[in-house]
Amino acid sequence: MPFAKAIALLQQKGGSGKTTTAVNLAGGLRELGYRVVIADMDKDKPDAWSWAIKNPKMADLAQQIDEKNAREQIAELKKTYDFVIIDTPPNFQTAALKAALLADLVVVPAAPSGMDLSGLMEAKELALTAGRPYRLLANRITKNTTMTKSLLNVLEEDGHLFQACIPQSVKFVEAETEGLYIGDYAPESNPHIEVRKFAKEVVSFFKNNEQ
Ligand SMILES: Nc1ncnc2c1ncn2[C@@H]1O[C@H](COP(=O)(O)OP(=O)(O)OP(=O)(O)O)[C@@H](O)[C@H]1O
Ligand SMILES: [Mg+2]
Repeated sequence: MPFAKAIALLQQKGGSGKTTTAVNLAGGLRELGYRVVIADMDKDKPDAWSWAIKNPKMADLAQQIDEKNAREQIAELKKTYDFVIIDTPPNFQTAALKAALLADLVVVPAAPSGMDLSGLMEAKELALTAGRPYRLLANRITKNTTMTKSLLNVLEEDGHLFQACIPQSVKFVEAETEGLYIGDYAPESNPHIEVRKFAKEVVSFFKNNEQ
């Protein structure tokens, strides 16, 4: 990849999996051999940063970024890393708006809930307003529930859905408690396999869109 890429996790709805996705995407890209950092722009609740500092295996994976000079700080990180993953606060605070503008790709996670679905539409609208490409990620997927099926239908109809499907799994919660990437906490588990597939799709997105 000739140029560093910034990827923003956006979703208006709190608790939809932005931070979990940010940390595990960072871990997945690192597993693929890329230099990755998380720019944590959630100043009230820097959960990605708190996750990473718990364990020496994740040392230096995340940095807290002040929204006031996010543009300069993210440009600086792009000089050192292949990927800068931007974690954002819910409710489209200014930090989330700035992250959308600074992103080369916006990733919108959505879990099976009505509120996640409306939050998803707003995040997509924000990405389009900012003129940024977006992709949707199905999160907290359990097989065969009505809510899951209707979520997947809506996501598929949009035409910008990652094929990876992140399952509902307590392993994600346990990995967070230990301050670990899912691939280190539960190697070759289904959650790890799907996260790695997602990371590979992110890499393909940029390879296919290279100028
Ligand atoms: N696939 C999953 N399986 C099980 N639990 C999950 C999954 N994804 C996220 N969670 C859990 O859901 C909770 C909320 O996730 P997370 O903190 O990633 O959301 P968020 O969008 O960053 O929230 P906020 O908007 O408050 O920052 C966490 O406890 C997390 O461990
Ligand atoms: Mg968060």
